[in-house]
Amino acid sequence: MTKRKTIVDIKNLKNKEKITALTCYSFFNAKILDLSKIDLVLIGDSLGNVILGYEDTLAVEVEDIIYHARVVQRGNKTSLLVADMPFMSYQATITDALKNAGDLVKYGKVNAVKLEGGVAICDKVRAIIEIGIPVIGHLGLTPQSVNAMGGYKIQAKKEKEQKKLIEDALALQKAGAFAIVLECIPSDLAANVTKHLDIPTIGIGAGKCCDGQILVLEDMLGLNFEKPNSFVKEYSKGKELFLDAVKNYARDVKGLKFP
Ligand code: KIV
Repeated sequence: MTKRKTIVDIKNLKNKEKITALTCYSFFNAKILDLSKIDLVLIGDSLGNVILGYEDTLAVEVEDIIYHARVVQRGNKTSLLVADMPFMSYQATITDALKNAGDLVKYGKVNAVKLEGGVAICDKVRAIIEIGIPVIGHLGLTPQSVNAMGGYKIQAKKEKEQKKLIEDALALQKAGAFAIVLECIPSDLAANVTKHLDIPTIGIGAGKCCDGQILVLEDMLGLNFEKPNSFVKEYSKGKELFLDAVKNYARDVKGLKFP
């Protein structure tokens, strides 16, 4: 029987080997990530951008994540499955946070949840962990705060912001988070945070010193119609490949060459 990775497996990778993580929203992609032995699969709220066609992640609902998590869970039997808690599913009250984290595990069948924020949400993080649901933190560029940040840009450039980010990371670790995503922060800050934590950091646009890396699958496959962020490496020309295939099909049908 194939065994799914646990949070203990992920934590044990720190200082041994880098953690591989990708987002995933569909059955065939889930199988590809399974066959590629990706350690951690995130059913993230970038779902809003790359699958649902929204401008940002704010409109994503718990039900959207549950729907896609179930699909991914059917296709992938070996990666640790983590679900994002969408905007306003945990910020207002501990009761909301517990109910929604519970639903993601119970109906979405994920193994852990991810929340954006530091000290300000540690009461929710602690409460979720106390009912037996593992939590990943998310600091730096936190897309659910896009309006407060004034857009998607590199975070924690100033010394005061860097100090705050380190405090947030230590608070999340103390609250019981088993890993922290660091998004779009200077690489020397990410290296410093990684060195000072016992739990792994997983970076996206945060340099190579993090304990692991995560990318949005559609971005790294080259499927995004938007200009990718400078930190994204496109491992495939997905858009061109698919466009060519579909155009060739249409040409063949019109030209009576297929079937
Ligand atoms: O939703 C998402 O894709 C994420 C990653 C950027 C970490 O949170």
